[in-house]
Amino acid sequence: MAISLSRSLSALLLAATALGGVLSAQAGTTYVQADRMVDVVSGKLVEKPALVITDGRIAAVGTQGSVAVPDGAVRLDLTGMTILPGLIDMHVHLTGRHDMHGYEGLAESTGDETINGVIHAEKTLMAGFTAARNLGAAGYSDVALRRALAANRLNGPRLYVSGPSIGATGGHCDNNLLPPEYDAHSQGAADGPWGVVRKVREVKKYGADLIKICATGGVLSKGTQVGAQQLAQEEMDAIVAEAKRLGLKVAAHAHGTAGIKAAIRAGVDTVEHASFIDDEGIKLAKERGTYLSMDIYNTEYILSAGEAAGFLPESLAKERVVGKTQRESFTRAVKAGVKMVFGSDAGVYPHGDNGKQFSRMVQFGMTPMQAIQAATVNAADALGASADVGTLAVGRYGDLIAVKGDPLADISILEKVDVVVKGGDVVKGKP
Ligand code: ARG
Repeated sequence: MAISLSRSLSALLLAATALGGVLSAQAGTTYVQADRMVDVVSGKLVEKPALVITDGRIAAVGTQGSVAVPDGAVRLDLTGMTILPGLIDMHVHLTGRHDMHGYEGLAESTGDETINGVIHAEKTLMAGFTAARNLGAAGYSDVALRRALAANRLNGPRLYVSGPSIGATGGHCDNNLLPPEYDAHSQGAADGPWGVVRKVREVKKYGADLIKICATGGVLSKGTQVGAQQLAQEEMDAIVAEAKRLGLKVAAHAHGTAGIKAAIRAGVDTVEHASFIDDEGIKLAKERGTYLSMDIYNTEYILSAGEAAGFLPESLAKERVVGKTQRESFTRAVKAGVKMVFGSDAGVYPHGDNGKQFSRMVQFGMTPMQAIQAATVNAADALGASADVGTLAVGRYGDLIAVKGDPLADISILEKVDVVVKGGDVVKGKP
């Protein structure tokens, strides 16, 4: 009895120590050195970089020799490696599972989804994404997740969440899977300018950091035409005006040509997917400084995982058209110089595979530096000034990753990140 008690006690202590290590308070000073650093602001590679992180934030950055090692600093020697700012994924669904689409997903409760979020937050962080924007979750499970992460009770990225996506009755963001007697509708379903304004106020009230809207139909929703505009211009204008009054950014799901342009005209901050954007849409996005967030890896998973993951046959049919066109649109938008952020829609595909999109972004027209900027400095800009992420600059969070080799020579290196540091804590790859 005594033996088993002391055994379980020491197991408990061990678990507590392990947890303490992962979730340790972000205090103290760390001196980091490496072989190379991707400077995402200048777009250049810096040789022999050094930086100091104090109490979770960057206190100094420069080269070895120019940055003094503070007394008592913990040394993080990343010799042989390249460091980059922690990556940012601007479109994830942490509470969703990649293997439960279509009718399968109906069985998931808000409790299940919250637990999904805990598991997926950790996977996302381990993939090198130290910040992420969660665009659409039921039951405010995303708000609960953000709160626990912000309090350092869980392991995961810094999270910016939208709560339930706002969209038209029967639209992409509604639940259209069940017959009328079930009276099923998503929490964000609303109609008319004042109806959608009320929803904006509601999601703000319950803790959202930003607004997600569904401007057009989608691939994975039942009975929606992917190219069709679903929110009227007046509704989007009203949403953006109210969001601005409340100090919230707006992300618009939009595949179809007209819906994309209406969303840009309304003044949204990011257009998600942007699959059928035409030249006028590209011009408008450039003029208005609107970011595009194009999930161009997604198609490979949807088409290969097919029925096993529960995707509806109609979704697979839509995807066969959307995936190809979206990649062509991506190439045109990059050529035209539209501002871009990295958004993967992970959750449709497995969390932790976020980084697979980098090589596709390069394959379809970006330089490796542009792809990295989309996931760092650009993403930070689109999140807003207070985010303090995305660059390795004094005052920003001490969030960085390290990889062996040079990601500017081989971008696919970012699919396997060796070291992850969040707020000065080494959360992966402790040397
Ligand atoms: N959530 C998106 C939708 O249902 C996924 C689109 C995926 N396809 C793509 N080619 N990006 O519309």
